Amino acid sequence: MSDSTQRYTITAALPYTNGPIHIGHLAGVYVPADIYARFLRMQGYDVAFVCGSDEHGVPITIKAKKEGVSPKDIVDKYHGIIKKSFKDFGVSFDNYSRTSADVHHDTASAFFKKMYEDGKFIEETTNQLYDEEAKQFLADRFVTGTCPKCGNEEAYGDQCESCGTSLNATDLINPKSTFSGATPTLRETRHWFLPLDQYEGWLKEWILEGHKADWKSNVYGQVKSWIDDGLRARAVTRDLDWGIPVPVEGAEGKVLYVWFDAPIGYISSTKEWAKREGKDWEAYWKDENTKLIHFIGKDNIVFHCIIFPVMLKAHGDFILPQNVPANEFLNLEGKKLSTSKNWAVWLHEYLEDFPGQQDVLRYVLTANAPETKDNDFTWKDFQARNNNELVAIFGNFINRVVVLTNKYYGGLVPQPQKLSKIDEQTIAELKAYPAVIASSIEKYRFREAQAELMNLARLGNKYLADEEPWKLIKTDADRVQSIMYVALQIASALATLSEPFLPFTSVKLKGMLKFSAAENRLESNEKSQWDKISTREALLPAGHQIGKAELLFSKIEDEQIEKQLEKLEATKSANAAEAGKVEPQKDTASFEEFTKMDLRVGTIIEAHKMPKTKKLMVIKVDTGLDQRTVVSGIAEYFKAEDIIGKKVTVLANLAPRKLRGVESQGMILMTENAQGKLVFVNPDEDGVEPGATIN
Ligand code: MF3
Ligand code: ZN
Repeated sequence: MSDSTQRYTITAALPYTNGPIHIGHLAGVYVPADIYARFLRMQGYDVAFVCGSDEHGVPITIKAKKEGVSPKDIVDKYHGIIKKSFKDFGVSFDNYSRTSADVHHDTASAFFKKMYEDGKFIEETTNQLYDEEAKQFLADRFVTGTCPKCGNEEAYGDQCESCGTSLNATDLINPKSTFSGATPTLRETRHWFLPLDQYEGWLKEWILEGHKADWKSNVYGQVKSWIDDGLRARAVTRDLDWGIPVPVEGAEGKVLYVWFDAPIGYISSTKEWAKREGKDWEAYWKDENTKLIHFIGKDNIVFHCIIFPVMLKAHGDFILPQNVPANEFLNLEGKKLSTSKNWAVWLHEYLEDFPGQQDVLRYVLTANAPETKDNDFTWKDFQARNNNELVAIFGNFINRVVVLTNKYYGGLVPQPQKLSKIDEQTIAELKAYPAVIASSIEKYRFREAQAELMNLARLGNKYLADEEPWKLIKTDADRVQSIMYVALQIASALATLSEPFLPFTSVKLKGMLKFSAAENRLESNEKSQWDKISTREALLPAGHQIGKAELLFSKIEDEQIEKQLEKLEATKSANAAEAGKVEPQKDTASFEEFTKMDLRVGTIIEAHKMPKTKKLMVIKVDTGLDQRTVVSGIAEYFKAEDIIGKKVTVLANLAPRKLRGVESQGMILMTENAQGKLVFVNPDEDGVEPGATIN
């Protein structure tokens, strides 16, 4: 590769090895990163696309504790699963490393050491949260509490996932140890801090002024709000035994904070790759002309846009990211994806359940990519996009072209005759696509880019449907030669342009069209196969022999989708049981005992909160028998005006009792929903009227 070739270092967030990869990771990070890397390689650029497993950090220790095994067991297990699933899914990393590798320990240690020796850290003894029972300092995910910024009661000691604020553990209101639930005490300990505040001016200049135009607005906005809020020093060391030892004398029992070591993993992974390939890693991290791009999810923005750049800047030897195209989140069937709650479509399971259908998932995740806002994955949409788009448009077009070419011409590309206006126009449209798709990809708008790819397939489909070669073949054979010639050029453009998005399909299609014979005819002024589509007269010249039709996509049946939905239902029930919501069955009740209970349908006709109480509500219920008063402890959960008119279930013959001077003549039955909120046992079928007995 010549010196003038543009060099790119593309990184994808190192996944934590506390669980397998799910569709949220794929949609947010790995699919867009892979599209980008593949696209750049097709342009002839010099690309290093690196990733690896993030094996330190508290989530892994927590998982190990939960399963009663060592952290090493956990990371080995998931590193294996993750690495294999990425490979099988076609993520084209040049290297997939892991942070337990020696090269990483050395690289991260040396990085810290240089900063330490250059006096870039502040060393301070401070009070940190400590769990007396577990005999352990609490930071990061070992401690939860209320976010001082948004009031979320489940914020972590390093970050609030609700508002995205990055926190120090001591910022939390009402902190609780995740080991024992105990309220931590404060204990002195010495740590090294990265004084982010000292870099505020520089960050303002570099990002707020320098990248206002080219960074995505969701990324820029988050970064701006952090900088505007004021930055504070952050500890980059921890009192833990799982991690990279702090390479400083007198720091026994301390390790580097996972968010200090993990991003350095990008550098280690590049080194590992360069060594294997006989390349110079430094060019990818130190040459000012190299473009460094980080693909991440939105929860990683502060680390990649503020903390890591400050580390790189303070260290001094490295380039800074040119862009950080972070995505928002993907939800699954309307609910937040969660590794710990098993609410996910796991990549390794998908690959088993849908063998050979990697591109379908890639396609759907890109079509729904959460590029500017959170988005939802549903299995119904997955099925619809496969059946109505990949099968019905892309697959159908290719199948027609290949089958007809074989049928009419024994698989030889026909000689076009005089091209019609429609033919010329279609070819002109076709030639515009490479630039359009490239421009969207360059702006990190992958869903738009892929939509254009599908539009090209639509163009082909429509062209054939309008021109109807299957009708003309009997009456105007010359015309059919032109039509098939044009259609074949579209098919071949699809084979090339689909490569970043649908790599397996692209390979198959190129095979069908016997591309390798046609492909090697690049001329020196043609940068790439991509550009050739617009510059060449024909990609598949007359006389070129294509192969036989194979199925590119196949229909996904209802049963397959139902099976996936059942899996998710099972997860829901398992979670409900796990949450302890399912109480053991009580002692047997005889039929006589049961029939003693007089359960009635009632309608709430009046309600008000009992003065000077927090919980009690005085409710008037029409039971069909009478209108009576029931006092119920629901005032914290409902407003009086919201429950009037509701149908409820009443135990009518419960012995009356007085609550704060008001006689309660019965009981309204309640249950709890999955969030632990009280809800009515609500007989809301049409036509169920007050007084109806329940038995
Ligand atoms: N493991 C982190 C996560 O899954 C991402 C680490 S990215 C890196 O959120 F830059 F630190 F490597
Ligand atoms: Zn918050």
